[in-house]
Amino acid sequence: MIHALSSAILTGLLAVGPAPGLLGAPPAVADSSTPAVACAITAGEIEWGFKESFRSYISGTIANGEWTVADGATYETPTFRWSDGTGAFRDGQGTVRFDGSVTFSGHGDILSTTISSPTVEIHDTDTAILLVDVSGTTQAGDPVDAPQTEFAELRLSEGTREVAGEQVTLSGVPVTLLEDGAAAFGTYDAGTAMDPITLRYQTPAGCSPQNAAAFPWLPWRLLVLVAALAAIAFVVTLLRRRGAPSAV
Ligand code: HEM
Repeated sequence: MIHALSSAILTGLLAVGPAPGLLGAPPAVADSSTPAVACAITAGEIEWGFKESFRSYISGTIANGEWTVADGATYETPTFRWSDGTGAFRDGQGTVRFDGSVTFSGHGDILSTTISSPTVEIHDTDTAILLVDVSGTTQAGDPVDAPQTEFAELRLSEGTREVAGEQVTLSGVPVTLLEDGAAAFGTYDAGTAMDPITLRYQTPAGCSPQNAAAFPWLPWRLLVLVAALAAIAFVVTLLRRRGAPSAV
């Protein structure tokens, strides 16, 4: 009778999986045994100064220029901000897209470069790529129109990571210009250090490599099994106590 009861509990628990609110849904982490899982990014923000020396050059007496922000991008010294990011993670890789542009101008209208619509492609815990639309004129005077060019590499793991509930903040992340970015911008060489970036996004726990489950190696089925065994042990103990002869 005890054996039959135990089997029933075990079979039942394994069949239904974890009860909502007891263990929660299985974590949506990349795992060879789980199918591709997509989870939405519900908020996103970038704070980035682009390149401090370029801003000094633009606003200084050489270029006598300025920058203007549009379509949702904002500026507060010393950083540009893109907010209302949208996107998703799938199998630990994520894409966060933003609207908004920054136009640098100077030397009358000879210098005019617009950086817009940044996209951050998060590859893993270490690396992300920043893509932007680059348009305008290079230093050599060549016209450029390079949509979603692979502008810079972000070394995520070298920044500071904070996770508060569903919000992940990666700050002080080093940014290095890539070949395509260097070609589109037309002054700095690939490998040039740009200003560090801060990326903030919100996504369900366990969804991104930066807020992955504390024990991703612990499959949720194992948790269900442990819960089932604990339930069986509890029931068996209870039944044995009831069945034990009185000491009197
Ligand atoms: C009338 C035309 C231009 C003149 C006379 C000029 C002059 C200069 C000078 C003197 C510097 C050195 C600044 C320093 O070291 O402090 C400089 C730097 C630079 N210029 Fe121009 N420039 C011109 C056009 C352009 C254009 C069209 C671009 C296009 C983007 C451009 C982009 C840059 C950049 C990115 C730097 C480096 C800023 C830094 O990070 O230090 N310039 N330019």
